[in-house]
Amino acid sequence: MADLMNKIVSLSKRRGFIFPSSEIYGGIGGFWDFGPLGVELKNNLKNWWWKTMVEERDDVYGLDSTIIHNPKVWEASGHTLSFTDPLRECRACHQRFRADQLKDSKCPECGGKLTDIKQFNLMFETYVGAAKETANKAYLRPETCQGIFINFTNILDTVQPKIPFGIAQIGKGFRNEVTFGNFIFRDREFEMMELEYFVKPGDDEKWFDYWLKERKKWFIDLGVEAKKLRYFEHPKKALAHYSKRTVDIEYKFPFGWAELEGIANRTDFDLKNHAKLSGKDLQYQDEKGKKFYPYVVEPSLGVERTVLVLLLEAYREEKDKEGVRVILSLDPRLSPYKIAVFPLLANKPDLVKKARLVFDKLRPTLRVAWDDIGNIGKRYRRQDEIGTPWCVTIDHQTLKDKTVTVRDRDSMKQKRVKIDKLIELFQDRLKK
Ligand code: GAP
Repeated sequence: MADLMNKIVSLSKRRGFIFPSSEIYGGIGGFWDFGPLGVELKNNLKNWWWKTMVEERDDVYGLDSTIIHNPKVWEASGHTLSFTDPLRECRACHQRFRADQLKDSKCPECGGKLTDIKQFNLMFETYVGAAKETANKAYLRPETCQGIFINFTNILDTVQPKIPFGIAQIGKGFRNEVTFGNFIFRDREFEMMELEYFVKPGDDEKWFDYWLKERKKWFIDLGVEAKKLRYFEHPKKALAHYSKRTVDIEYKFPFGWAELEGIANRTDFDLKNHAKLSGKDLQYQDEKGKKFYPYVVEPSLGVERTVLVLLLEAYREEKDKEGVRVILSLDPRLSPYKIAVFPLLANKPDLVKKARLVFDKLRPTLRVAWDDIGNIGKRYRRQDEIGTPWCVTIDHQTLKDKTVTVRDRDSMKQKRVKIDKLIELFQDRLKK
């Protein structure tokens, strides 16, 4: 299984999905760049989340708030005080470790003595304005949801939502993690897709159960095997400072079960604290004029962590007479390219010209790749490896009857289709 992780890392680098950030300078731990294919996959994932969580629902509104907020936000949210990891440093080699992940009290690297536990705040600090003074200190947000809470009354005033309703946001989050790693599983800069779902106090447990089920279904619909997903209930004494109940949807990674998405009942903690510190009334008023602080159910998911799961789930190898065929069996809705178009022979101008016409016809509607390098077998392999679900080949028969060969990534079956029917066919298959 650990082998699978290495294969994913190597495929990601080789084909342009994911690169270590700042590689020419030796990299920088916990930061990753997404290449030409990675950015397509990531965008498709984010768009799918947005479509299913915002666009297709009547009760969810979108938001895009800033990464840097007034530092009072983090005071009210409790992050300035409580967003910490317990840390121990080796007195000999000065490496730092998460105290809760250490097996004994010696340095795991050099066996040296460790310092006592210190609480280390995970927020990245920065300064706003020219003067680097404490008064100008600000933080890169460690979660996106505070932008939602501080815009609560703006949303109430502009869209007048009826409770229950949600506010959703996708954006960067930053955490100065002490231990990072397992490829893109734990990063210091990453993207989050968060929904804050506001409900009447008393209805929170019902909605919590609703989102638990919905979110698990969402992964299964994208092809994640149900048996590799499970719920993990956080013990009461280990709950985050804002939470009444938290359940993680865990995935069975090659390195063990770990959190994929967190679902938390944040109660009215955030709105009440922001109201207190800002002096503003952040209550919701119902149709009878009754004012109250809603409770919040929050499904919160990392983009990079989901990309990793999608790659792990999609990777397959099949032995054939030419060796090993690698297939990335991604859900076509998420595949970087939906279609690859090939002229059968790259040295026949009439085939190339016709293929280009087909390519141009498909391009405004679907993400299409062009490939005319090597023989057709090699091109199929290249596309299989990056998850392109359908390949379209233009051959001599195309010039006679305006049909092309459509080859399916997963079944490897081929059939002839009229050029005029291609868009309809692919759009139909993408609906699922
Ligand atoms: N607002 C709630 C919140 O931030 P969290 O459980 O700390 O909750 C939510 O984070 C999700 O964000 C996680 O389930 C995970 O998918 C992702 N995530 C958290 N820290 C991460 C990191 N350092 N690198 C990559 N993804 C991370």
